Amino acid sequence: MSDKEIIPYRPGLEGVTAGISQISDIIAAENRLIYRGYDIRDLAANCTFEEVAYLILQGKLPNRQELTAFEAQLRSHRELPAEVYRVLHAMPRGAHLMAALQVGVATLGSIDPQADLNTHEANLQKAIRLTACMPTLVANGYRILQGQEPTPPNPDLPHAANFLYMLFGREPEPLHARVINLTFILYAEHGYNASTFTAHVIASTLADMYSAVVGAIGALRGPLHGGANEAAMESILDIGSPDRAEAWVMEKLAKKERIMGFGHREYKTGDIRAVILKEYVRQLAEQTGRLDLYQIQETMERVMLREKKLHPNVDFPAALVYYLMGIPIPLYTPIFAAARIVGWTAHVIEQHDDNRLIRPRSDYTGPHDLPFIPIDQRT
Ligand code: COA
Repeated sequence: MSDKEIIPYRPGLEGVTAGISQISDIIAAENRLIYRGYDIRDLAANCTFEEVAYLILQGKLPNRQELTAFEAQLRSHRELPAEVYRVLHAMPRGAHLMAALQVGVATLGSIDPQADLNTHEANLQKAIRLTACMPTLVANGYRILQGQEPTPPNPDLPHAANFLYMLFGREPEPLHARVINLTFILYAEHGYNASTFTAHVIASTLADMYSAVVGAIGALRGPLHGGANEAAMESILDIGSPDRAEAWVMEKLAKKERIMGFGHREYKTGDIRAVILKEYVRQLAEQTGRLDLYQIQETMERVMLREKKLHPNVDFPAALVYYLMGIPIPLYTPIFAAARIVGWTAHVIEQHDDNRLIRPRSDYTGPHDLPFIPIDQRT
């Protein structure tokens, strides 16, 4: 590329097209999200996570036979190898669960003889195995870090419900099973977000899928990305009661602090995933007698819209549905990872199928032509 063709720097790469993808589309102006051509509202209303994972990874909705075979494949790979349990047991108490996920995925890569084979078929098999066992890594990683015994996966339960089973050691009630399935669908894929882009960059060096996923988990951990759901719940608990919510938000905004769970780089008039999930926040709040928490969210939303014209993103309702289902807060971002594994791995497949090294440039703003100073003369 000649110097004349240099594209001007855009902070945060805002609005910059960094790739071509057939996996999903965000139509921000219409507040729509599309996975492989299908509107997220239709998928959320009608599908299991397994159907949506098949769609994202294989490019089409499965027929009944294909779905049955795919479900069986996922079930057969739910359990973690003994090597992963060993490294989880070796992690220091108090370790961050996202770090445990990185260690777990790196270990899975270390024992996969096909780890470095980047063909479409080999990558697809890795993607399916990773999708199958990520919930186990999250639930049992958490249990082990807490000093508890891991729970073997339950082959009789669907993918997302089995996650709750492993976490709590008992079958989830139907509403919880429905809501966890829904959040897995809503979190499964979202274009060139920060963690998925990280996966693209790593994959573009022809590094293996496991390395790309370890990097993506790191990117997801930050509070401006996946970490926002945990931060949002901490805020709601810090507020404590509905009558304090407005003053709390106003005080934070006056100090120019960010309210986690609000705003989005792409969506400026609302995040459809948050709209879909909100109905379930109310149902769970009623079921658990915690309408106070629902009201805190309502007030925060009203004040943020009035003061900053900012809408909640998916992390805001997701945080509260997880809390109302009794899920401990340190699991919220790892759950996001357990769902987004589908999107990450689908993007790694796309990258490896048509690869070119991702290597942008930076505008150097430091000095040139400094006279060299011998070490003894430096101050
Ligand atoms: N709380 C308060 N102000 C916010 C805000 C929030 N959550 N999100 C954005 N803003 C404000 C910024 O302070 C800035 O105001 P200014 O122009 O007066 O300085 C303006 O909105 C634009 O913010 P900017 O950070 O440039 O937008 P972005 O596109 O880079 O940010 C996010 C996108 C997601 C990083 C941002 O909205 C954010 O930090 N949200 C909270 C974290 C979160 O929920 N992340 C999950 C995303 S799914």
